[in-house]
Amino acid sequence: MHKNQGPVYYNDYLMLDQLLTSQEPMSKKHATAENPEAHDEMLFVIVHQSYELWFKQILHDLNSVLAIFSKPKVEDNDFGFIIQRLDRITKIQEMMLPYLGILETMTPMDFLEFRSLLMPASGFQSTQFREIEIKLGLNTNDRESIDREFFLGRLTEKDRDKLVQLEKVPSLLRLVEAWLERTPFTATPGFNFWKEYQNVIMTNLAEDEATIQKNMANLSEKDKQIQLESLNLTKENFDSLFNVDIHAKLVAEGKRKFSQKAILNALFILLYRDEPMLAMPFQMFTAMMDIDENFTTWRHRHVLLAHRMLGSKIGTGGSSGHQYLKKAADSNRVFLDLFNLSTFLIPRSQLPKIPNEVKRQLNFNV
Ligand code: HEM
Repeated sequence: MHKNQGPVYYNDYLMLDQLLTSQEPMSKKHATAENPEAHDEMLFVIVHQSYELWFKQILHDLNSVLAIFSKPKVEDNDFGFIIQRLDRITKIQEMMLPYLGILETMTPMDFLEFRSLLMPASGFQSTQFREIEIKLGLNTNDRESIDREFFLGRLTEKDRDKLVQLEKVPSLLRLVEAWLERTPFTATPGFNFWKEYQNVIMTNLAEDEATIQKNMANLSEKDKQIQLESLNLTKENFDSLFNVDIHAKLVAEGKRKFSQKAILNALFILLYRDEPMLAMPFQMFTAMMDIDENFTTWRHRHVLLAHRMLGSKIGTGGSSGHQYLKKAADSNRVFLDLFNLSTFLIPRSQLPKIPNEVKRQLNFNV
């Protein structure tokens, strides 16, 4: 704990002189008698600056989580901090969403009063936004439709170098993957969890097939085919968990990000989330999915804002405008694997029983 070192003055502490003189609308700088300052540009600047301040806080919390995960061993009592900080990020994201509504009180015609003064500046150049994306696990190369050169070409050399360097440092996605690969529970001698899990799945699928066969008589040819195809698809999906080649294909197609070992251990945590030792990792997964979902929601909301402001005009950064943003919103997902794992969940009543030795490891006081 720090002790008071002398009197502090509110305005100095918050550096308000600096902060409150940092709003310089371009239309004010270029104002003439015929072309006065565009009233709404102040709102435009303040909304963007507010976002950047909160991005700074998100990075502050995210960096501390990355530091914990970068240690050779994540201690059990670190999970409290990890969850608290990831949760805070989700709260900040929720609060940032309605900012776009405030900005929409500026009409498209009000925006046109100063928009051309901004060219070619654009949200593309928000290096903090990129930094968050990269640190979460979305690399420039994964990004949809805008190729690496196009995007990097819009940045100063200094910003470009910084982001390229950041991509070489393990992201949250990769650090959690490495942590999952170290998780020991499913590898206990004498306990072949996955064999038992597969037996449950095979029984369930056989039951589904029997039901379809039983109902065949009442189904049209087309419906029969649809049902059997969907059953095969489900089987293939389950195969992707254990078949190295299918897994590798999904990774190559960008449909899966975690390694196979990490996927299986994440699934174990999701299935046995009620075991005390897995409750916190499960909460961490929940926060990671919330962060991913909140960013996607923001991106979709931002698409609507861009559409409303620009119609089908291109963006100031040179993209196709709201169409580019829509594609980016659909595809720029980071923790997709955690969402997709819901495919492989089974009811609690069907969970294979864990041997006592493993149960002891998963409980605080057995
Ligand atoms: C009048 C309001 C706004 C309009 C019309 C608008 C429009 C656009 C457009 C068209 C793009 C695509 C890049 C380009 O060609 O410029 C873009 C990107 C972006 N904008 Fe906005 N935007 C607005 C407000 C905001 C606000 C308030 C933020 C908050 C920080 C923001 C953050 C971003 C970011 C981070 C990107 C890059 C997204 C990506 O590449 O995935 N924008 N914006």
